[in-house]
Amino acid sequence: MRETVSPARAIEGVVTLPGDKSISHRYGMLASIAQGRSTIANYSTGADCQSTLACMAALGAKIEHQDRAVLIEGGSLQEPAALLDAGNSGSTIRMLSGILAAQRFTSRIGGDESLSRRPMARIIGPLTEMGGWIEARDKRFPPLTIHGRPLHGIDYQLPMASAQVKSCVLLAGLFAQGDTVVREPVRTRDHTEIALKEFGAEIEIEKRTIHLHAGARLTGRELVAPGDLSSACFFLVAALLLKGSNLVIHGVGLNPTRSGLLDFLVSMGAQIKVLEVHQVGGELIGDLRVQSSAVTGGVIEGALTAALIDEIPALAVLGAASANGLTVRDAGELRVKETDRIATIEAGFRRMGVKIETNPEGFHVPGRQEFHAAEIDSAGDHRIAMAFAVAALAADGPCVIEGAESASVSFPEFFATLRQIAQT
Ligand code: S3P
Repeated sequence: MRETVSPARAIEGVVTLPGDKSISHRYGMLASIAQGRSTIANYSTGADCQSTLACMAALGAKIEHQDRAVLIEGGSLQEPAALLDAGNSGSTIRMLSGILAAQRFTSRIGGDESLSRRPMARIIGPLTEMGGWIEARDKRFPPLTIHGRPLHGIDYQLPMASAQVKSCVLLAGLFAQGDTVVREPVRTRDHTEIALKEFGAEIEIEKRTIHLHAGARLTGRELVAPGDLSSACFFLVAALLLKGSNLVIHGVGLNPTRSGLLDFLVSMGAQIKVLEVHQVGGELIGDLRVQSSAVTGGVIEGALTAALIDEIPALAVLGAASANGLTVRDAGELRVKETDRIATIEAGFRRMGVKIETNPEGFHVPGRQEFHAAEIDSAGDHRIAMAFAVAALAADGPCVIEGAESASVSFPEFFATLRQIAQT
């Protein structure tokens, strides 16, 4: 699908966003293995999180949709009749594999073309250490055949910053004999740890070490998924870019392992105010007001790269319009996302006449650049489609985003919401 995005004068309005993708996956999986009924309000409408629900239903969980809420009756899982389809979702295949590795049956899980190219050795390694047996295409790519086996807990030092791998090991640890310890090189999003506690697991966290006690009995809960801050990021950047903008975003997730985005934007001069904050299910939720601002630019490296990994496509767009540009380092992980995002950002920028220098681990975008009208291919990557739709708002003429339907992987309402708040 091709979507035409015309230049806009400003961003104005009040929006509420669909539930956080990361949190929805975790609630969907944990509710399906917990005893009894869970209700998850504002569950993500994104295709990725629907893939998780479809997999859990194929594994025997009873799942009903009621307005924006999902009702799940959990319990023991059953052998699926067919290959589990994770679609485009790395979180689904990596986290669910941890659960599947410990079941009494064999299952197969795979996904679309993009997912089939994503690295799985990073989960096969620790799961094998726990006593699991997983076969993969070329030993490292989906589809995976997971022969369920009794597992034992391990003390695992994560070789890379990955919340998906951390979560995979912790979810396997739920079923293992003995405690499971995961040590992170840098802190990554902690939604699994928070959700595990909510569902009744005993878990201790000290700095970057997570200790899950064996023998957890999870029970169903009433939960709310906060609005997705990674989706909000596209509108934050759009509002910062366009003069005279004023946008309020209600009920967005402000978990400190995610909200580094706001600190980074504010450090560049962004006028963003947190209007109200409360806690639900251990997660912080608040309202944000953003107003257009002249931003200086900045450097994303080290732990900050891990904290902002999903926001980098949108931040690259802001960087090109900033005073001093944006430098991104330590971001080799971007090359193994839904697309090689360093390459797809570069390709889009070149189409729009925006300069960028790339390297294997990052890029530099000089500041004070203009966006020129162009046709830009999302390469089927949701965050690339949405980032370039935002760049198009600031361009010198209408732009066409090819493969715009990919936005629905995380945010099906993106283009409709953009049309509501973009003032032409
Ligand atoms: C996610 C973790 C990150 C992120 C992805 C969601 C999660 O991936 O990019 O969009 O929900 O745990 P990695 O674990 O591969 O860094």
